[in-house]
Amino acid sequence: MSKKRVLSGMQSSGKLHLGNYLGALENWVRMQNDYECYYFVADWHALSSNYEDTAELKDNVVDLGVNWLAAGIDPEKSVMFVQSLVPQHAVLYLLLGMITPLPWLERVPSYKEKLDNVADRDLYTHGFLGYPVLQAADIILYKADFVPVGIDQLPHLELTRELVRHFHNIYKKTVFVEPEAKMAEVKKLPGLDGRKMSKSYGNAIFLSDTPAERDKKAGLIVTDPARVRKTDKGNPEVCHAYSFHKVFTPAERIAEIGTECRNATIGCVACKKELAKNIADYMAPFDAERAKWVGKSYRVMEILWAGSEKAQKVAAETLAQAESAIGISLPKV
Ligand code: TRP
Ligand code: SF4
Repeated sequence: MSKKRVLSGMQSSGKLHLGNYLGALENWVRMQNDYECYYFVADWHALSSNYEDTAELKDNVVDLGVNWLAAGIDPEKSVMFVQSLVPQHAVLYLLLGMITPLPWLERVPSYKEKLDNVADRDLYTHGFLGYPVLQAADIILYKADFVPVGIDQLPHLELTRELVRHFHNIYKKTVFVEPEAKMAEVKKLPGLDGRKMSKSYGNAIFLSDTPAERDKKAGLIVTDPARVRKTDKGNPEVCHAYSFHKVFTPAERIAEIGTECRNATIGCVACKKELAKNIADYMAPFDAERAKWVGKSYRVMEILWAGSEKAQKVAAETLAQAESAIGISLPKV
């Protein structure tokens, strides 16, 4: 039996952080053995909200490639590609745009949310509203069975499924596969301040941070606010450093730390020093791999180009089927 197909993408909108690593990348790496995986850099999606600020766009694409390779995405097993190198995404996006009812887009939660929260850029654009249509095109061009995504992406997946059904209804032909979201069983990591870890919140530990920078940030994690003095007994369950321990610290030690915190036999400074060491140990293999790829951007670009050429073949085939279903492809005589 042939393997089911998985597709996922990441926007190239800046540095990856530990949340991205644990929440997505580790999972992508695991899936490589059981599925036929397509992983791509969504650089057009990055452009949709950063269209004025393009200075770092190309570097970000390569940087994402570096991080994927360092994490263990294997170009021999998985197709690693770049959205803008596969123009079929744009064509299908246009065709889907013809049939997408505007209200479907206006009610996508991330749309309103970002419009309300992003003050420094004008996002009242066609491209930004159409973001989920482009995402649908990304997915269905490859007839992906599963899309590993976080909870915030579920509305986009639902819209993708609706668009597939809508297309099949209108053109009376089955071309695409309705993809299923695949939520990862990942460990949840908050930001340093307890909110979601995010580059824009300034509460992130980055994959590109040096070990010293990571240690310093570990020391800044917000702890139990009621524990002012070292002699005060703490409550680990309200401490964000403890949430980090739950991810990076060996299981036996997590429970011990909880007890020591409650009994005030460990201080927060020591507790977070221990955490910093565990983060460093956890990330050491990644750091070592990353060091090998940094400075080899020509090799990373080669890999991304080769993957994009593979992706194009699949994408072109599906696009031809879609155009034929619509009835738009003129026979070449
Ligand atoms: N919207 C996704 C995100 O921000 C990125 C993305 C674009 C994507 N196209 C995709 C994810 C297709 C999965 C499948 O995380
Ligand atoms: Fe948090 Fe550790 Fe301090 Fe307890 S001792 S409040 S778990 S940092």
